[in-house]
Amino acid sequence: MILRFLFPFCLISLVLISCQKETNDPVDMSIPEAPEEEIVLENPLTADGILLGKMLFYDKSLSRDNTQSCASCHRQSNAFSDPNQFSMGINGDQSLRHSMPIFNMSYSTNGFFWDGRANLLRHQAVIPIQDPLEMDADLDEVMQRINADTLYDLPILNAFDTSHISEVTLGLALEQFMLSIESKNSKYDQYLAGEVSLTTTELQGRDIYFNTLNCTDCHKGFNFDDPSGRYLNNGLDSNDEFTDLGRALVTGKISDQAKFKIPSLRNVGITAPYMHDGRFENLDQVIEHYMTGIKSSSTLANNFDVEQMNLNTDERKALIDFLHTLTDEQMISNPAYFSPF
Ligand code: HEC
Ligand code: HEC
Repeated sequence: MILRFLFPFCLISLVLISCQKETNDPVDMSIPEAPEEEIVLENPLTADGILLGKMLFYDKSLSRDNTQSCASCHRQSNAFSDPNQFSMGINGDQSLRHSMPIFNMSYSTNGFFWDGRANLLRHQAVIPIQDPLEMDADLDEVMQRINADTLYDLPILNAFDTSHISEVTLGLALEQFMLSIESKNSKYDQYLAGEVSLTTTELQGRDIYFNTLNCTDCHKGFNFDDPSGRYLNNGLDSNDEFTDLGRALVTGKISDQAKFKIPSLRNVGITAPYMHDGRFENLDQVIEHYMTGIKSSSTLANNFDVEQMNLNTDERKALIDFLHTLTDEQMISNPAYFSPF
């Protein structure tokens, strides 16, 4: 009796398994090894440097009126991004773009911010302190405050063998802390290491991501970003709708208008809303955009083939389930990144 039920089931499973092997053999399912982290060599991470950077990152005295720290707009629970579409600066003004997540920063080799206007993280770090839309402080005054605060005496001495923080060491310390934030233990990493299995839909989504759609033209490699650091236009707006000129603000080239940094898709399940202006509330809207919303313009990347982008409801759900496997629960609860205060 049992056999009569089991036999057809086994047969179907066998056929399914063998079909999968023959037709869906993974093309590029794995993620390559981490590249050499060159930037780290110029500013070697030390426990003392990271600690000092962490204190600065969580310190509200970096803003003019002592109300805001870096962590106000870069929250650990959101992979150090901001759940708000635009972040509120100390003057009640909103940022012009969605805050970006901070992790695996050493993979970012071609500039920081959505338009890449800062070359090095240590230079990037002092910009928000002075940005009138963000912390709106005078850098000299901030350094005076830190140098006057006895809490910092030992950490500054330990990290840089000096008694006073300078613009350079301030940048270096923040850079060290940000470089120390690693995200390498998502469910997908654990799956690749053979530690957990993925559900059937997650596996289906992985297959769609790597083999059916063109996502890996741009979001690929260990960090699911662009290892060559390109800035591209993924079809959010047509020419007459360009409001943020993106990369062109840095290069001055018309051919760079509305191009933005290709973001990492690691932790994308917890970094909503999406795109440089946070226009999409959830991943379903993002997929909808790639399926039916691509707008043509003079700078649109030539990767978008509408035919390829057809997914039914189940497939869309599977793709989103797969994207959620890139969430690193360990990172967002890692005490090493908690506020030291
Ligand atoms: C008021 C909110 C706010 C505060 C405060 C803030 N940031 Fe940001 N951060 C943003 C926004 C918005 C962006 C994207 C800006 C852009 O692309 O023009 C960003 C981008 C970044 C990036 C770029 C990431 C990448 O992948 O290119 C880094 C790094 C960063 N911030 C670090 C910091 C540090 C360090 C501090 C504190 C000194 C800080 N932020 C304070 C809102 C904020
Ligand atoms: C031609 C390159 C390209 C392709 C192909 C591409 N993307 Fe993107 N993607 C980008 C760029 C560039 C951005 C940022 C655009 C912006 O903010 O203006 C982006 C943004 C995103 C975001 C938002 C991330 C965030 O932090 O805001 C998600 C999610 C995303 N893409 C997923 C996908 C998926 C899934 C696919 C496959 C269907 C895909 N992308 C295909 C270039 C690409």
